[in-house]
Order: sequence, then structure tokens, then C-alpha cells
Amino acid sequence: MSEAEVVRFEVEDGVGVITVDNPPVNALGPGVREGIIAAVDRGVADPNVSAMVLMGAGRSFIAGADIRQFGKPRPAPARLTHDVLDASPKPVVAAIHGYALGGGLEHALSSHYRIAVASARVGLPEVLIGVLPGGGGTQRLPRLIGPKAAMEMIVSGRHVPAAEAKALGIVDAIVEGQDLRKEAIRFAKSVAAKRPLPRVRDKADRIAEAKADPGMFEAMRKSIARKARNQKAPYHCIACVEAAVTQPFDEGLKTERRLFAELENSEEAKALRYAFFAEREVAKIPGAPKDLKPPRVKTAAVIGAGTMGGGIAMSFADFGIPVKVLEVSREALDKGMQRVRDNYAVSVKRGSLAQAEMERRLALIEPVDRYEAIADCDVVIEAVFERVDVKKEVFAKLDAVMKPGALLLTNSSAIDTDIMANVTKRPQDVAGAHFFAPANVMKLFEVVKGTKTSIETIAGAMKVGRDIGKISAVAGTCDGFAANRSRAPFITEMMLMLEEGALPEQVDKVMVDFGYPMGPFAVSDLSGLDISYDTRKRRAAADPNYRKLHVPDRLVEMGRKGQKTGAGWYRYEKGDRTPHPDEVVKSVIAEVAREFGIEQRTFTDDEILRRLLCASVNEACKILEEGKAYRASDIDVMWLHGFGFPRYRGGLMFWADTVGSREILRQIEEWHQRYGARWKPANLLREIAASGGSFREAKAAG
Ligand code: 3HC
Repeated sequence: MSEAEVVRFEVEDGVGVITVDNPPVNALGPGVREGIIAAVDRGVADPNVSAMVLMGAGRSFIAGADIRQFGKPRPAPARLTHDVLDASPKPVVAAIHGYALGGGLEHALSSHYRIAVASARVGLPEVLIGVLPGGGGTQRLPRLIGPKAAMEMIVSGRHVPAAEAKALGIVDAIVEGQDLRKEAIRFAKSVAAKRPLPRVRDKADRIAEAKADPGMFEAMRKSIARKARNQKAPYHCIACVEAAVTQPFDEGLKTERRLFAELENSEEAKALRYAFFAEREVAKIPGAPKDLKPPRVKTAAVIGAGTMGGGIAMSFADFGIPVKVLEVSREALDKGMQRVRDNYAVSVKRGSLAQAEMERRLALIEPVDRYEAIADCDVVIEAVFERVDVKKEVFAKLDAVMKPGALLLTNSSAIDTDIMANVTKRPQDVAGAHFFAPANVMKLFEVVKGTKTSIETIAGAMKVGRDIGKISAVAGTCDGFAANRSRAPFITEMMLMLEEGALPEQVDKVMVDFGYPMGPFAVSDLSGLDISYDTRKRRAAADPNYRKLHVPDRLVEMGRKGQKTGAGWYRYEKGDRTPHPDEVVKSVIAEVAREFGIEQRTFTDDEILRRLLCASVNEACKILEEGKAYRASDIDVMWLHGFGFPRYRGGLMFWADTVGSREILRQIEEWHQRYGARWKPANLLREIAASGGSFREAKAAG
């Protein structure tokens, strides 16, 4: 489409209709702003036009500035659309459907009236990509709805549904009819003669009212301090809203522009933009036909009512999908269902779930004890005990009963998907569906591609994940798949650093300061030290070169399994989750170091961070080399949604690029010399460093 065509202008019934038509979401890409200005000029000049409507074609109003243009040099426009809309002597009505976000909502705020269909959503989500509303949003929204509500919207970046937008005063009316264009023209005609034109920039009442509460900005800063640590954008958003209260409109705009410019190329904005696009890229399956669009599953089944099975069943029920939970033992089934009820009851008690909603969700979960009862389900997820023989038996039964075309998925976290696929006569329909605990909370959904899994099954499994609110990412089958495998060396190094003199509390502090919500040792105490104990024993038995992790093994053998036993890496007071550093752990570490003659030394924070992340970067390169993940950015998405990696740092591979590929190689070579084989640099790592390339753009070999 040529630039001239991204905005249309038509006159209908005395109203000039300006339609932005820039698929898929009408972002303000090249030509759109210019097109809107030209259309308003035409409407103003045309004596047959008494009012104008600004709307979007397709599925949305305007989803905001074109994020792809950020960070690139842009010529300063001769005229700003906001000024042109604002100054139009004829009323402009923004007619909103789909999304009016960021620059999209700012265009609506510069219009004189705003109407919306009931399903529309509006918001200023710029903070989520590390910037702030830079088209007057921080100055107009506080004038329209008051600084407090505006600040909450701008700092959270949340999408506000139309009904709430009406209650807040963002939109003037909700359109009842089906035909937005017709309703918008009708509305425009009804206000065509009204003067003066209501301009948001001139509204003063809500600002005056805010002066009575000068402490609100400081209070907001305090309330976000923990979550927004290391970030600038949320604080700049607050500063802009404060400027709306303390400065005249045009001065406030200058403040907004200055602070926007400070953020646009910040490391945090670059990382968050990258994360936005990586999350969209991860949904794409290389080589898949364009028309491959699996339908939403209507019914699901879960085999196993353990903690994982129950959590998976809740994930379906939470998104309105009926799900059957199968356990052949009645006792296990009852126990599992009780656990699900208890989990929901905790949410009701906390106030995050209504009792009626809990009942509705529970009604969607049907306990069954025979395989025949699930035969008709569109998808089945096996979540039984992690033992090959048990899993093989389940898949043989599924093969016998499930309807043709059903997706047969396994939640195994370590067992090769091919083993299960090969006991069926339909290995093409079998894939892994790796949930992360707790399954109903964690967003990552790793789809594991077996050797014979068809592209339709991969697409279908990914869609299942999206339908239950997850981020689906594809991995190849191998030990640990892509997510856990890429994280395993991080875990190994954090344990081994202890033997050399680091302490759990020091490592945790470094990682929390980096941006993780919790340190890795505190996380290990939460999930239980015993979980990885068995895996370690299995690996040690299978591999004579396996480097044993003596410290955690000894802690588990002492009965220190984490929070559930009142002690693990830390000690806990009864009924309190605060971790307290523990002398016992120190003495176990000292004992191991003595026994193996490991010299003690001090670690800098930077060394700790690098040691953990570099180990994983190297492994991620091997994963890509072996074709076990499609893209480096997919691994980043896994780290963001599976392991709490701070989003404003982009992800593991994005972080590696901030250090630089040559420096990462130099560091890994140094540790290869010092620590031996486990630090051998991956071939792909060497290639990237030699070409001066970037990690984040690396793709699977082949
Ligand atoms: N710029 C460029 N591309 C965009 C875009 C934007 N603002 N918003 C969406 N896209 C692209 C996506 O990358 C995707 O491309 P792809 O098909 O090639 O992968 C395509 O549009 C469809 O997007 P989604 O898959 O996300 O579609 P959904 O229907 O799931 O979601 C949405 C729609 C809620 C609008 C979501 O895309 C979104 O949140 N977009 C970003 C909105 C935003 O952040 N706006 C503010 C921008 S900054 C700004 O306006 C600054 C101003 O104040 C000066």
C-alpha cells in the first residue's frame, strides 16, 4: 500500500470521515500522521463538512506509534497531528473500536469528542516498552480524568475497558449499535454546531482539584519502588503527570518531550522493545503454511491429578475450557480434586477470585476414572509420575481410545518425547507440553517437538497454550528441552561458586539487584531442594564425568529440603517465609571445601552475575547449534516467562549482547582454562564472536 493510501477521507452526510487503514493494527507508521493532517485540512476547507470523524479500518482504532521506528532517526514533523486536531475549528470525533493505545489514544485525546464501542479498550502502555506517552498523553489525560487516575493508568500501562473509560470520563459515550461509522456520523452531526469546542488542553478543573493532594506523586514513587527498581520510565511517567499539575500546558508538553527523548534509546527501552517483538516472533513456526490456523480446543483431558495435573486442569478451567481429570485410583482422584478446590479457595480468601467464579471454574473440571471417558477430547495432556514405564503405558492406552486427530501431549520435563510417541501408531500427533510450576500461574508453555511430530501438531499445541493464556515456545526433544537445559548450567555454577567461597545470600543479592524478583537460592528453597536431587543422582549414575554438587546433596541428606522443612539454603521461622542466612549452611560449605581442597576466595558481584549467565549463554548456543530451539529470541522469551528474568534486560541472549560477543567468548575461554570441560565454548559462540555478530539474532542451524 502506498503512503497516500494509509489514510482515507470521505464526506458522508456533511461529515468528513477520516479512516486510518494501516494493517494489522493501524500503527502510526510512515504516512499515517501526514495523512491525518491532510484529511483534517480537507475537512476544514470543505464548506460541505460541518464535523469530522477519526476512525480505524480493520480490527482496531490506532494501536499507537509504530514501535519499529523507535530508535531510528526521524525527521521532526513540520506540524503535529495533535495540534492540527486540537486547533480544528470544526469538531473532530474519535470513534474507537478494538484498541486505542499510546499514540492512538493520544490522537483521540486531541480530538474534541470520543465515543467507543463496548468491546473497545484504551490505554497508554508506553511504559511497558520503556518510554512514556510522548504525544501529549501525560498532559491531556490528567486534565481529562484527574492526575491520580491518569497516573495510575500511565504508570501501569494497563488496557482500560470501554465501560471503565466512560466512567473515568475518557470517552463521552458508548455506542450501542453495530455500525460504528453510522453512529459516529450521527454523533458528529449532533455536536457539529456546538461551540466552544471542548479541548482537553483547556480543561483546568481536575488539575486544580489535584493541588489539594500534593503528596500523591511521592506516594506513587514509593509504591512502585520495588517493582520499578533499575528502571527510569515509570518515574519519568510520574514526573510528566506532576508537570501537568505544576506547569502550564505548553511547558508540560516540553517536559514530556524532553523526558521521552531521554528514554527512547535507553537500555531499558531497547530491551523492552526487543521483548515485545520476541514475544510475537516466538509464535511463528518456520516453514509452516500460511493458512495453518488450528481451531480453539473445545474439550481437554489431563491424565494425573497430582500437583501438576491439577494445576494444568485449573489452567483450562480458568479460560472457560471444560476439562476432564483422569486418575484410575479413586483415592488419588479425590485427593487431587480437593487440592484444586483448596487452591481456588486460597484465591477467594485473598480476594483475587469471586466465590461464584470459583464454582463456575470447578464445574468445568470433571473427575473421571476410565480412559473411555476422555476419548472424545480434542487434547489430552499426560501429567503422571516421571517414570518412563508409567508414561509408556499411558500413551499405549491413549493411542487405543483417543479419537483420530486428538493432540496427545506429555508434560514430562525430562523424558524424551519420542519414547512416548513411539509406543503409539500416531507419533505425528504426539508432542511435549511442558508446563512450569505452578502450572496455573507460570506463563511459559514449552511445546516439545519430537522427531516425528507433525507441523500441524506443533501449531495445535501452541494454540492450546495461547488459549489458556500462556506464551508458547517450541523446543526440540533433548535432556531438559530448551528452557531448563539452558538454565541448568546457571544452577550448577551457583552451587559450585559456594564451594569456592561465595554464600547463598551474596548470590541472591546480586541476582535481585540485577532485577530478579527472588534470588535463585530463595527460589530453590521455595520449590524444594529435593526436586533436583533425584535428577542429579540419575545423571551421576549415567555419566562418570558428571560434576557432583556436594553442598545441595548434603543439605538434602540432612533433611534440609527448603521452606517446607523449615530449612534449606536458609533457615525459616515457623509461619514466616523470610529467609535467614544460616551458620549450618556455612559449615557444610566449609566442610565440602576442606574435603576437596578447594581454595576459598571472595567474589565480586560482577563475577557472580557473569558466571551464572555466561554458563547459560554457552549452553543456549549449543541448543541452537543442535536445532533444539528455533531462535535465540525464543530462549529469551523462555527466560522472561519461565524463570523471572527481568524483562527490562531483554532476556539471556539480549543481555549477552550488552556485554558483547567477543568479551563473552574471552570470559568463557578463561573459565574453560580454569574449570575444564564444562566451560568449553560452543562452536556457535565462537562463530558469533569471530564475525562480531549478535547473540539475539542467532537462529537454529539448518
Ligand atoms: N508498532 C509496530 N507494530 C505493531 C504495533 C506497534 N505499535 N502493535 C502491534 N504491532 C504488530 C505486531 O508486532 C504484530 O506483527 P506481526 O504480525 O508481524 O508479528 C502485529 O502488529 C499484530 O500484533 P499482535 O500479534 O500483538 O496482535 P494482538 O491482536 O494480539 O494485539 C495489540 C494487538 C494489543 C494492539 C498489541 O499488538 C499491542 O499491545 N501493541 C502495542 C501497543 C503499544 O504499545 N502502543 C504504544 C506504542 S508507543 C507510542 O504510541 C508512543 C507515543 O506515545 C508517542
